[in-house]
Amino acid sequence: MVLKEEIYKLNGKTVTLRAPQPEDAEMLIEYLKTVCDETPYLSQYGDEVKITPEDEIKFIERRNDSETGYLILAFEDGEFAGNMSFERVGTSRRAKHRASIGIAFFQKNTGHGLGRLALTRLIELIKESGYEQAELTVLEGNERAKHLYESLGFKETGRIPKANKYDDGTFRDDILMTKDL
Ligand SMILES: CC(C)(COP(=O)(O)OP(=O)(O)OC[C@H]1O[C@@H](n2cnc3c(N)ncnc32)[C@H](O)[C@@H]1OP(=O)(O)O)[C@@H](O)C(=O)NCCC(=O)NCCS
Repeated sequence: MVLKEEIYKLNGKTVTLRAPQPEDAEMLIEYLKTVCDETPYLSQYGDEVKITPEDEIKFIERRNDSETGYLILAFEDGEFAGNMSFERVGTSRRAKHRASIGIAFFQKNTGHGLGRLALTRLIELIKESGYEQAELTVLEGNERAKHLYESLGFKETGRIPKANKYDDGTFRDDILMTKDL
């Protein structure tokens, strides 16, 4: 689905939320490489991002054409800050009440309320889309994200031990969180 542009105010900054367009493809690839290396809390390393602009354009079109989810870009004072999304979990009828969330901003855009603003809007859209349960995975140690999710009603409902193994040989669990809508 395509989110028409929405404008919010946050601590004197203008926050814009909107659907991606094909022209955003290269910016989104660079963003993904950067955010994957800024913290240990995403599911891959930046050098694993091998998407071509053509693939990314197809991805954007697929996400905008989806009738079961949104991909939404966030901007602060016109500058790209990151994105968030939700999509139906799988395709089976038994799972059609479940929406899976992803969210990541550049580090410079974190820690001043953008996550709360954006995720609050995303949860509204998930509810409006008819889902009954929102789900996400947060990596062990990502206390800022976990705090934010808990404050918005998500509860830890499972854990995959050692789900992530880093190049230095250390591990982090995947923590599964769900919110009953
Ligand atoms: C996770 C993320 C989306 C949150 O967005 P954000 O804009 O940083 O979050 P906000 O500033 O709105 O809220 C953060 C909350 O955590 C709190 N917080 C900050 N550091 C914290 C810490 N070390 N421990 C616990 N809480 C912390 C803040 O006080 C705030 O809570 P409050 O509103 O009750 O005061 C963002 O930090 C991000 O993109 N991080 C990098 C990628 C990532 O981790 N993505 C999530 C994958 S699951």
